[in-house]
This record gives sequence, C-alpha cells and structure tokens, in this order.
Amino acid sequence: MDRREFVKDMAMVAITVLSSPLMALADAQSNNRNSIMKKIMIIDGGPRKNMNTAQMLQKIAEGARSVGDNIEAKIVRLYDLDYKGCMSCMACKIKGKASNVCKFKDALTPILDEIAQADGLVLGSPIYFGDVTGQMRTFLERLAFPWLSYNDYSMTAPKKMPVVLVETMNGTPERNNSKGYGSMEYCISTALGQPERLIAYNTYQVKDYSRFELAGFSEEEKRQYRDAHWEQDLQKAFDTGKRMAEQIN
Ligand SMILES: Cc1cc2nc3c(=O)[nH]c(=O)nc-3n(C[C@H](O)[C@H](O)[C@H](O)COP(=O)(O)O)c2cc1C
Repeated sequence: MDRREFVKDMAMVAITVLSSPLMALADAQSNNRNSIMKKIMIIDGGPRKNMNTAQMLQKIAEGARSVGDNIEAKIVRLYDLDYKGCMSCMACKIKGKASNVCKFKDALTPILDEIAQADGLVLGSPIYFGDVTGQMRTFLERLAFPWLSYNDYSMTAPKKMPVVLVETMNGTPERNNSKGYGSMEYCISTALGQPERLIAYNTYQVKDYSRFELAGFSEEEKRQYRDAHWEQDLQKAFDTGKRMAEQIN
C-alpha cells in the first residue's frame, strides 16, 4: 500500500467512525417520531357489515394504516353494541364534577372514552329518511351533550381533532333528500373542528335488483352510475384516511 492509498483508507475510516453516531442519532429521532402511536376512531352507524358504508369506512382505515405502523385505525360498529341515547341524567353537569365525556355507563362508555383521547374521528352512516340512522343519532347525543355548557352555551370537547363525516345514499348529487348529520354537524364543527364530508351517491342498495320489489329504480342506470363512480368513491375514502393520518402524524 503506498502512502496515498494509506491516507485515503484512513480518511474513510475516520468518516465512518464519525458519521455512525450521527446517523444513529438521526435514525433514533426518526423512529421516535414514527413510534408515537396515533389513533383514529371510525364509527360505523350502518347495520350492514360489508355493504356501502362499511366498505367506505374500511377504505378510510386502510388509507390511514398505509401511513405507518404507528397509526391505529379502529372501526367500531354501533349496531354490535347495546347502548342508549342521552338519558338526561345530568351527571355531566353536576356542580364541581362537570365532565365533557358522558358519565352514563353502558357499552358505549369505553368507546366515548377512547374518542376523548383519540387523534382523529370518522363517522359513517347510510341515509335513512333523509337523516343518519337512529343508532348514529343516538350515539351523537351521548358524544355531544357533555360538550355543551348550559352556563354559557359553549361547546367544548376534551380535545380538538380532524373529523370526517361519511354518508352513503340512494340519492344523486343532483337529487337527494339528505340532511346529513343535521344539527349535530354544528356541534361537531364547534367542538372538534370543521369536518370534511365524504359522500357516496346512488349506491347499490342490494346486490341483485331482480330479486326485490324495486321497480322504482332502473338497475341498468344504477349499474352505469356504479361502474363510473364506486371505485372512485373507494379511492377517495382511501385518500381521505391517508390524509388524516398524515395530518396527525
Ligand atoms: C330504512 C331505509 C331508509 C332509506 N332512506 C333513504 C333516503 O331517505 N334517501 C336516500 O337517498 N337513500 C335512502 N336509503 C338508501 C340507503 O341510504 C343506501 O342504500 C345506503 O347506501 C345503504 O347503506 P349500506 O349499504 O351501508 O347499508 C334508505 C335505506 C333504508 C334501508
């Protein structure tokens, strides 16, 4: 080995030795950032396990999880839980013990506690008679009443967080009767932050229209609409979940 090669080798050793602790530090910092667990609660207010609403919510969860192993996207099916709406027990407004999380104990209690600690919230419901389902409405009473102060009418959640409101329906963008989340949307935007709305229109209500008394719908028209939009709707759902996870990460 001549002198020039020796100097070059020594320089390489020095660079390696000096840079390894720096690289290890950078790795540790980046791992540390990505190892902080973030939780998105996804509340399914529809009764059907694998139909339109459930599929949209599943895609949101997939999009969120694609951002990293530290993102937990938990889907809760309200129809699987035995719970009541606001019981007007006023336990959340007792002097000196007021709480902005519902105090009534039933199957919804742990879910409401988890939402209070979560980093993001997604609500999904089919539209029934122009509104979200009864189960979703009942859940929202329990979520939002403790936020409301009867002292000054402010709305305060334990924590602000990004929110997405999902609707699926028979109606089209041009012709529908949806009032969406109605007055609850005001409570959500005041207490948690302005929600993003994600809507799947003109969904397939059944898989085979020929088996049901559904002559008011043209299956052909439904199929054309679905072929043109459903995959896009699912992609939008995936992108929405991904965006929310990136925002909170
Ligand atoms: C009881 C009931 C009421 C409905 N009311 C409406 C309605 O008012 N407007 C509408 O556009 N679709 C209405 N639909 C259709 C559903 O909103 C639509 O099929 C939805 O995508 C179903 O969601 P899912 O597949 O997740 O169950 C109704 C369906 C049912 C079962």
